[in-house]
Amino acid sequence: MIQSQPIAPNGPVFSQLVYGTWRVLDDPPTANAPDLLRRLHQCLDLGITTIDTAEIYGLYRVEEFIGETLRLDPGLRSRLQIVTKCGIYVPCDFHPERKTAFYQADAARIVKSAEKSLRLMGIDHIDLLLVHRPDWLTPADETAAGLNKLLKDGKIRAAGVSNYNVHQFDLLNSRMDQPLVTNQIEFSLLHMDPIYDGTGDQCQRLGIRPMAWSPLAKGELMNATNPASARIHAKCAELSAKYDGATVDQLAYAWILAHPSRPLPVIGTNKLDRLCATARAAQIQLEREDWYALWTAAKGHGIP
Ligand SMILES: NC(=O)c1ccc[n+]([C@@H]2O[C@H](COP(=O)([O-])OP(=O)(O)OC[C@H]3O[C@@H](n4cnc5c(N)ncnc54)[C@H](OP(=O)(O)O)[C@@H]3O)[C@@H](O)[C@H]2O)c1
Repeated sequence: MIQSQPIAPNGPVFSQLVYGTWRVLDDPPTANAPDLLRRLHQCLDLGITTIDTAEIYGLYRVEEFIGETLRLDPGLRSRLQIVTKCGIYVPCDFHPERKTAFYQADAARIVKSAEKSLRLMGIDHIDLLLVHRPDWLTPADETAAGLNKLLKDGKIRAAGVSNYNVHQFDLLNSRMDQPLVTNQIEFSLLHMDPIYDGTGDQCQRLGIRPMAWSPLAKGELMNATNPASARIHAKCAELSAKYDGATVDQLAYAWILAHPSRPLPVIGTNKLDRLCATARAAQIQLEREDWYALWTAAKGHGIP
């Protein structure tokens, strides 16, 4: 059973693995509300109680789809923690007037987007709202003003960011009435930047846990024609017996979970068997040499 713990000091309690909804409308297993409802119940059975979504997912359609799903089971919302994001605006059917994609994280836009997310999902609060990407044109005070207002009004329980570098995080955090509780970042065996760029260290310093998106590198880690993935597969084949027959995806999750910042991976698969396998990966404790052996396989060379 997946454990739940606070994501930050005084922060909301989230499950160690988070169910991602980016692809739910693309895949037959979850593309209609009764199927997504069944999938959310399967997540709960595994102890996965936190779901991740965003205003932009499904070109602005996924939040509404989640709302349709929640309406099928009125008791479900109180058993879930809902994370959503705002701030990315792209040309789409709803907004043909937009000629180019842009980020926008001023106070009015953040409040408007969060209120839209509440309305579309049919919920009275968001457990965690993330600014999806840093908006290079908006002063941090403006972004903080929007998040602080939503916190004060009880529309969001916690605020965080996604894809911020350490300086952007520190700046925004310095303007918050209530500290940011996470940075949702890309982190996997094929994307190790958080180990080197200070993000993982910043999270440890602040006692907050990052959320790791695309933990299987958007599926590329499972593609053995990718040379780095092929090396990882070979190493996983060697390690598998030692970890009770663990598969590549399970060892890749265990590799993320072993990082001292204690990341919360955001799961991307829409296949039930893969979801269940992921849940079992949370039990794997990778030994030091094996963690470094996977690093070495991914890089194609030894440590410096
Ligand atoms: N904050 C951000 O900027 C950001 C960006 C991207 C994503 N996210 C979040 O992170 C979540 C996960 O991202 P992601 O979907 O890219 O995750 P991922 O796990 O890295 O990739 C998922 C892809 O890998 C495939 N896959 C998974 N397990 C597999 C296996 N054992 N063998 C072969 N293929 C496998 C899946 O196909 P199947 O479905 O067929 O298994 C799917 O196409 C998203 O849902 C979203 O919530 C956040």
